[in-house]
Amino acid sequence: MANIKDKYPEFITLEDSFNLDEEAIKKNQLAHLNQYRTQLGLDGGLTFNITKAEGCHMWDSDGNKRLDFIGCVGVYVLGHNNPFIIDCVRKYLDRKPMTMDPMSLKAQASSFAHNMALIFPELPRTVVCGGGGAEANETIIKMCKVAAGRTKQGKKRIVSTYNSFHGKTNEAVFTGGKDIWQRWLTPPSDHTYVPYGDWEAAEDEFKKGDVIMWIAEPIQGEGGIVVPPDDYLPKMRELCDKYDVYMILDEVQAGSCRTGYIMAHKYYDGLVPDGFSFAKAISDGVLPVSGVQAKEELYMAAYGSFDSAMNHTATYQDNNIGAVVANASLQYMLENDVPALVREKSKYVWDGLNKLQAKYPHILEEVRGRGFMIGLKFNTDADGVGYANAIGRELAVNHLVHTMTSINADTILRAYPNIWSTEEDFDWFLDALEKSFLAVEG
Ligand SMILES: Cc1ncc(COP(=O)(O)O)c(C=O)c1O
Repeated sequence: MANIKDKYPEFITLEDSFNLDEEAIKKNQLAHLNQYRTQLGLDGGLTFNITKAEGCHMWDSDGNKRLDFIGCVGVYVLGHNNPFIIDCVRKYLDRKPMTMDPMSLKAQASSFAHNMALIFPELPRTVVCGGGGAEANETIIKMCKVAAGRTKQGKKRIVSTYNSFHGKTNEAVFTGGKDIWQRWLTPPSDHTYVPYGDWEAAEDEFKKGDVIMWIAEPIQGEGGIVVPPDDYLPKMRELCDKYDVYMILDEVQAGSCRTGYIMAHKYYDGLVPDGFSFAKAISDGVLPVSGVQAKEELYMAAYGSFDSAMNHTATYQDNNIGAVVANASLQYMLENDVPALVREKSKYVWDGLNKLQAKYPHILEEVRGRGFMIGLKFNTDADGVGYANAIGRELAVNHLVHTMTSINADTILRAYPNIWSTEEDFDWFLDALEKSFLAVEG
């Protein structure tokens, strides 16, 4: 076997990559990955060289232990490198499996789908996607469009909500209600936005008789941790039934136990959407995996015939290794009653945050969200500059605590702990937050 270094002396092997110093990584990243995104992080002082992560902690190359209270914006509900999930992946790979092949039987993908149907019996059809949340949303949007094209002729519009975020692929970006992400793209037709939480505005659109689907997040994440009124989603279910519109929920960020429910819509007794997308925490960050859960009627209306069998396929669709990860996460969530754990554990940090809000109302206007999906709404200073970004930076740089502002609402700082967070970690966060208030006030 030839040695790669003989041909390309500068080739970086896996072993080499473990030993790269910060400057070498920066150089490669600036030259070959998304340069300006990298630069934004570096300029903001928010990019660190993380070399290890476990539970809710991360270690940088200077040996500092850091508190990860954002977890890749919701990915790590079950903690970094959850031992059960890693073990399942190892066991699977040790068997020299056939991980992807379009025509082989798929023992792991079909088992995951079977298990999801046990938990969501009214939504027995699964698509396992190879990528992120946007791919899952593309899949479910397309499913609704194909279904409507075959069974609801004449209908064509998608109604979604202002400030929603459904990902950055072409269709997903136009489904999200934030025009900044649509810049420079040629728009597809047939998207209408209504205010989130306002069912009357949605009904006005439905009455026009041409709407295929309505899609929203159970709690808006990038829009700034916006929790809708309690009657909103049940009312939207009623309206979708009345006007024959598919009700789709985007569970990418709020789902998979983040809010203290296996999927965020389970907060509402008996609420069943026609379909939902999931991603982020179902992967626990071990491998990219996302997917869709759909009602039989919707799935069959789109793909219920041989002539539609190849209509939505992808190389990595229903791949076994993604399903192994998702299934391990699911098993861990259920065996450890993670929804209840999140509801119970989050009380301590909510209590501390509410006390801080009462003490510093001129800085921290509101604490909102559910479970481990926490949004801190900050005020602005005397010059009208919001505190959120300054406090996020202060937390990361001076207190080694990682949070993040919402991309569609930069007065909101998000804090996403995970199940490994202890009272000691919450105290670290609360103390850092108070010190950051004092620093920015000063
Ligand atoms: C609600 C929601 N949907 C979709 C997406 C897109 O997911 P991804 O970035 O994995 O494509 C996100 C990402 O933050 C999200 O929060």
